[in-house]
Amino acid sequence: MKKVYLDNAATTKTAPEVVEDMKPYFLEKYGNASCLHKWGQEARDAVETSRELIANKINALSEEIIFTSGGSEANNLAIKGVAYQLKEKGNHIVVSEFEHPAVLNTCRALEKKGFEITYVAVDKQGFVNLEQLKNSITNKTVLVSIMHANNEIGTIQNLEEIGKICNENDVLFHSDCVQSLGKVGVDVKKFNLSLATFSAHKIHGPKGIGVLYVKKGVKLCKQIDGGPQEFNQRAGTENVSGIIGFARAIDIITEEDVRIMRKMRDYLVEELLKIDGTSLNGSKENRLCNNVSVAFQNVEGESILLSLDDKGIAVSTSSACTSSKLESSHVLKAIGLKPEDSHGTIRFTLSKYTTKEELDYVIESVGEIVKNLRRISP
Ligand SMILES: Cc1ncc(COP(=O)(O)O)c(C=O)c1O
Repeated sequence: MKKVYLDNAATTKTAPEVVEDMKPYFLEKYGNASCLHKWGQEARDAVETSRELIANKINALSEEIIFTSGGSEANNLAIKGVAYQLKEKGNHIVVSEFEHPAVLNTCRALEKKGFEITYVAVDKQGFVNLEQLKNSITNKTVLVSIMHANNEIGTIQNLEEIGKICNENDVLFHSDCVQSLGKVGVDVKKFNLSLATFSAHKIHGPKGIGVLYVKKGVKLCKQIDGGPQEFNQRAGTENVSGIIGFARAIDIITEEDVRIMRKMRDYLVEELLKIDGTSLNGSKENRLCNNVSVAFQNVEGESILLSLDDKGIAVSTSSACTSSKLESSHVLKAIGLKPEDSHGTIRFTLSKYTTKEELDYVIESVGEIVKNLRRISP
């Protein structure tokens, strides 16, 4: 049976070059980077070289890179770290209503502790309402957190514009850049970012390693107590092999990969929209090069997903199925999609390994499946 993996927003295949680079740090160079002996120093050197490489890619300084266990931890550290550090100054945070759960649930946890959160609306294409954003900033606001690219619909925000608003209002600006890294240029200075979140496993790196960029001078309340690792901002023995893997993954990304993915994405969109009763979710122009989110009217997304899985094709629905009821995705709700379109939405996410032959197989399979499902349940 053919196997086609189109769920690269969930996670990606680890690139073989990445695995090769990581291997010695399991088998030979396994020292703890905090130790003074040669094993430790070898690991330390590798960590610092990787830190510098990652910093250069986002126009940051080495000492502004904090390694974490992934994007979720980095988002927690950024938001809770600022909230608790600046609680004497203010207790108000502004986020968009369609952030990743690692941001939204962090905010909900803070609300329970007495912090105030404003959830700014997005429009039909998934762009943050900048007027509402501006108007929601008060003298109690300490942080604005807006994701760079949305993980479900792929819409890319204008971070430069949002950065300007934050700068003019003298509030810290955090962005979850997990989905945009390697696909859209991330320049922390150009965007006026105070904090930014990244994760390796979305760019063909290993799982369980992330980065929080923390602008020099920004102070955070530590969320993991322990040793003095990561400039005393995040305790725990460094995940040396993961850090090496992250650096290699970011280093092998090319503009050509992005160009090809964009071309393939456009082909997939064009072909899928030929099926009756379909529409594209999110922005057509400012969209991640690998994201195709399509609403199929009068079909259940889960049924399409399972039928595609039977054909060896991995995709994702944009709705989360809780144990008792089918809930619409908060992202699709935020862009104003009707519940029936939301329930029929499928997210296809490509990678640099995706081929045109694979897409042709997917296009043919989706056409057949949707037709059959609509026939069974008109
Ligand atoms: C936008 C976004 N933020 C954060 C995360 C969480 O990252 P991690 O899986 O590394 O914890 C993800 C991953 O699903 C994501 O897509």
